[in-house]
Amino acid sequence: MKFIDLCASLAAVGAASAAPAQDGPLNKRADFQFVGVNVAGGEFGIGTYPGQLNKDYVWPDKAALDKLQGEGMNSFRVAFSMERAVPDKLDGTVNETYFAGLEDSVNYITGKGAYAILDPHNFGRYYDKIITDTAGFQTWWKTIATRFKDNSKVIFDTNNEYHDMENKLVVDLNQAAVNGIRDAGATSQFIFLEANAWSGAWAFVESGSAEAMKNIEDPSDSTGSKLFYELHQYLDSDGSGTSETCVSANIGVERLNLATPWFKANGKKAMLGEIAGASNPTCIEALKNALQHVSDNSDVWAGFLLWSAGPWWGDYMFSMEPPSGAMYTGVFPSIKTFFNA
Ligand SMILES: *[C@@H]1O[C@H](CO)[C@@H](O)[C@H](O)[C@H]1NC(C)=O
Repeated sequence: MKFIDLCASLAAVGAASAAPAQDGPLNKRADFQFVGVNVAGGEFGIGTYPGQLNKDYVWPDKAALDKLQGEGMNSFRVAFSMERAVPDKLDGTVNETYFAGLEDSVNYITGKGAYAILDPHNFGRYYDKIITDTAGFQTWWKTIATRFKDNSKVIFDTNNEYHDMENKLVVDLNQAAVNGIRDAGATSQFIFLEANAWSGAWAFVESGSAEAMKNIEDPSDSTGSKLFYELHQYLDSDGSGTSETCVSANIGVERLNLATPWFKANGKKAMLGEIAGASNPTCIEALKNALQHVSDNSDVWAGFLLWSAGPWWGDYMFSMEPPSGAMYTGVFPSIKTFFNA
């Protein structure tokens, strides 16, 4: 999730909207690999380090996870902070206190047979500075992945939403993460790569990120079948996910479709890692249509995650936290069909 605007040229995509989608019955969802939700909290209090548990940050609520899994979800993207996990330097040692909370959440999720996606929610930054030390980043990932190397249900997400960086640096950081994870002995698990420009689906090709990232390699699997390009997409005019107003019922389809053909042409797999809509008719239609697009193109889209569950969202418009989150009560009932295989 990001909180600042994308550039104007991308925002202009929203102006070229086509006719609204027809109402009609939804197809049964495709047999996705990954269907679920983000769970925020471990990264809260960004800038407050090390921070205190239950004051600055919080771990997922287990009853909420159970409830969401009961709704058909099999994937939970757990946000945490790189600085809190490894506080001194990228190649430093783990803070066991903080790590124990992360590990407890991850083991709880995977113990119930779901996927836990490790999401260092850092935007390609460490202590607010763009990470340029790719060797250090590789070591950071090796340190973390070592702890989870025997858990086949853990998925590694290299970093949340790189932005305002050179495309080459984003490629190098992703490759360093993959190398560090594999070097740790976590050789079988899935890895989610993220792109530049906030990993926005609408920006993936136009930003040059797609072409730049095309040759990222998996040292443990020459076919690259374990690597997924995780993209995010919001539906408001600037694509930032900060407004309750969605541009049109078709905006999600239009924006996702700026990426879908690239995946088909290049034989790569996409994963929609964040999407959300507020509780109003246009947003609900836009979200349905976006998920339908993902379903209709499940040859390249491996699944999707809603933004976002988490115990501290309060009355946030996108709260997917049961039992009373605004999106959980006002939007989810309309898109539930996509969660049931
Ligand atoms: C380790 O994490 C705990 C819990 O967040 C925090 O209270 C403690 O100060 C941290 N220690 C270091 C050295 O950062």
